[in-house]
Amino acid sequence: MSELEIQVPAMDGGSYKVRIGSGILGSVWGRIEADFGGYGKIVVSDENVVSAGHLAKLLGGREVDSFVISPAGETSKNIDTVTKIIEAMEKACLGRDSVVVGLGGGTVGDIAGFAASIFKRGVSVVHIPTTTVAQADSAVGGKTGVDSTVSKNAYGVFWHPSAVYIDVSTLGTLDERQYRAGLVESVKHALIADSGYFEFIENNIDAILERKLDVLEKMADYNCKIKGSVVEADPNEKNQRRMLNYGHTIGHAVESASGFELLHGEAVSIGIIGAGLIEAKMGLSEPKRSDRVRKIFEKLGVPVTIPSNLDEKKLMELIRHDKKAVNKWPKFVLLEKIGTVHCQEGQWGVDVGRELVEQVLAELR
Ligand SMILES: NC(=O)c1ccc[n+]([C@@H]2O[C@H](COP(=O)([O-])OP(=O)(O)OC[C@H]3O[C@@H](n4cnc5c(N)ncnc54)[C@H](O)[C@@H]3O)[C@@H](O)[C@H]2O)c1
Ligand SMILES: [Zn+2]
Repeated sequence: MSELEIQVPAMDGGSYKVRIGSGILGSVWGRIEADFGGYGKIVVSDENVVSAGHLAKLLGGREVDSFVISPAGETSKNIDTVTKIIEAMEKACLGRDSVVVGLGGGTVGDIAGFAASIFKRGVSVVHIPTTTVAQADSAVGGKTGVDSTVSKNAYGVFWHPSAVYIDVSTLGTLDERQYRAGLVESVKHALIADSGYFEFIENNIDAILERKLDVLEKMADYNCKIKGSVVEADPNEKNQRRMLNYGHTIGHAVESASGFELLHGEAVSIGIIGAGLIEAKMGLSEPKRSDRVRKIFEKLGVPVTIPSNLDEKKLMELIRHDKKAVNKWPKFVLLEKIGTVHCQEGQWGVDVGRELVEQVLAELR
């Protein structure tokens, strides 16, 4: 098991540990007991993660309160579910010193983290991520929240975890489409922060698709180091953390225009290709960079063009409403080269004209 320490203002101290390994799930509860003593605990998971056997493996026959989200997925990421979890915690007589353990993908983590943040003015949360999205992205960084009937993540706070345990072997039961889409965030990390990681992905793409555990462990390590260092520098997203938004400005618009038919990673792959086209038009490209990125996405089987049924005007309108927009137009995160984000006057966002974005959307067809 490898260990990584992330220095952020966690609610119960100045840092937390991310422990990474394969086949470690059966020993994680013992670690949690050792780290969080006799405090009351509740595990929040979802029906698919439970049927895949991960909850049973984690608890190893111990009697622990648990809340299983059903149906699994985004439709349950709402205030109703949070209310039910809070009430389950009260019924279990959990107090101010309790620990919420989120076992599952990004939806479970976001819900569990948010419930922990508001239960009796805030208790600890521990994440045990089980999807490629959650292991690469959501488990580290402290963003929590649920959707309103109007928009995604409308309710939410930063609530950094007290510990994260990543067992890459849990990915073995993940559906193929979810598995592949989630890998796009890993490619994003490599592009914004580490050319060596990018080469690692290129060289190991077949092993990644075969879910070879040693390769997945290495990836988890790269991902948590990259996301961890960005989060350490900017825990509550004031500046540097925005670089994690690479490919997301067009990506979010495409995701939303598709009515969430496309998975987040599938929309972000299109957004990353779009960012590459913008870079080329702004003289920021390097020879072969876009070809290399495109080749990885094609291997992963994620889309690189905007589906023909999505209307361009609607996409422009959604980009205008990007949650990070200022004066109704967002800045774009762009690359200087693989592993380095282009920085303009100390800011990670670059001004890109509307006509240029329109041209790029047309080229993405
Ligand atoms: N907080 C953050 O920083 C952050 C970052 C990225 C995404 N997110 C959020 O994460 C959510 C998406 O996360 P996700 O892609 O992990 O989706 P998810 O949690 O819905 O999981 C996808 C599906 O896989 C199932 N599943 C999970 N682990 C499994 C396993 N090991 N074996 C079999 N099935 C398994 C789930 O039940 C679900 O049906 C979105 O709500 C998004 O907003 C948050
Ligand atoms: Zn993302």
